[in-house]
Amino acid sequence: MVTVHNKFSIIKNIVMIKSKIRTQGTNSKLILGLIGSPRQLGNCEIFVKEISRHIDIDHTLCLIRLPSLKILPCKACYGCIMDKPCPNKDDMEFLLHQITQSDAMIVASPVYFLGSHSIFKSILDRGFLFYHFLQKTYGKPCILVNMYGIKERIGVAPQTLRSFASFLGLNIKGSVNVKAALPGEVIMDTKNVERARKLAEALSSSKTTKNVYGCPFCGCEIVRMEKKRFICTLCHGSFSTDHKGNKVKISEGGIFGNPEHMLLHKEWLRGMKKRFLEKRKEILKTIIPYRDMGEWIEP
Ligand SMILES: Cc1cc2nc3c(=O)[nH]c(=O)nc-3n(C[C@H](O)[C@H](O)[C@H](O)COP(=O)(O)O)c2cc1C
Repeated sequence: MVTVHNKFSIIKNIVMIKSKIRTQGTNSKLILGLIGSPRQLGNCEIFVKEISRHIDIDHTLCLIRLPSLKILPCKACYGCIMDKPCPNKDDMEFLLHQITQSDAMIVASPVYFLGSHSIFKSILDRGFLFYHFLQKTYGKPCILVNMYGIKERIGVAPQTLRSFASFLGLNIKGSVNVKAALPGEVIMDTKNVERARKLAEALSSSKTTKNVYGCPFCGCEIVRMEKKRFICTLCHGSFSTDHKGNKVKISEGGIFGNPEHMLLHKEWLRGMKKRFLEKRKEILKTIIPYRDMGEWIEP
């Protein structure tokens, strides 16, 4: 029976759910699906669409097929760090603009040779550009999907997507590894449909996602082992385990955090650029003898 109290709670809940994903001025939300697979109607695309089907608030799903974008290699000029325009004329600006315009994101990549699709690394190599947008991307809810085909062959893929999301300051509501080998078969397994439903729920929930597995700071599952502690290979936070296997945090977290904390790195890089300009002549003297060594060959 729906009592007056219950009715109020339901209405309150609906309002809450709507306010969890940032508004665009209209009631409809924009969910951006970043598809890391070149396959049309492949598993990544289908699974992202399946998550969208379960999101029970009014939204538009916009999709970008990342391997179709033109993403050039970073020229290592540090121009962006000094707030100058990037000399690369490609689709990075389009991509970052779309990310800032979205209310929430679903990011999916196929596992290729024990890692994410290389497009994510290409984008990450241009990650200094993220700093310009950090205030707008920070805290945006997202879901990460690693689509793999073979048991025990997921490799380091989850770390790459976490890295992508963390450098943008996104709020990772869920990171899952979904098994589907044949192109497009992913939702034929009803367990995957249920997972998509739960991820849709997580994306619009205000609950903080606890990092049950992996690093207690950022959730990354790959750690370096030192004598008495583990060091996260992603955020560099350190922790150990007690005699019951519970994680005990040692450091205060790592390189990620609020924009102010993350932007300290940009300041450090600016300082390095200044240091380089001061030392340039001295450095040149040591490198000149190497200039004409070896023969560069091209295809
Ligand atoms: C080039 C290539 C490399 C792959 N390497 C792996 C791998 O290392 N581990 C794995 O579990 N699956 C691997 N797979 C399987 C895909 O991850 C799997 O089929 C996935 O569902 C593809 O998603 P998509 O249909 O969205 O492209 C590979 C597939 C391709 C085409």
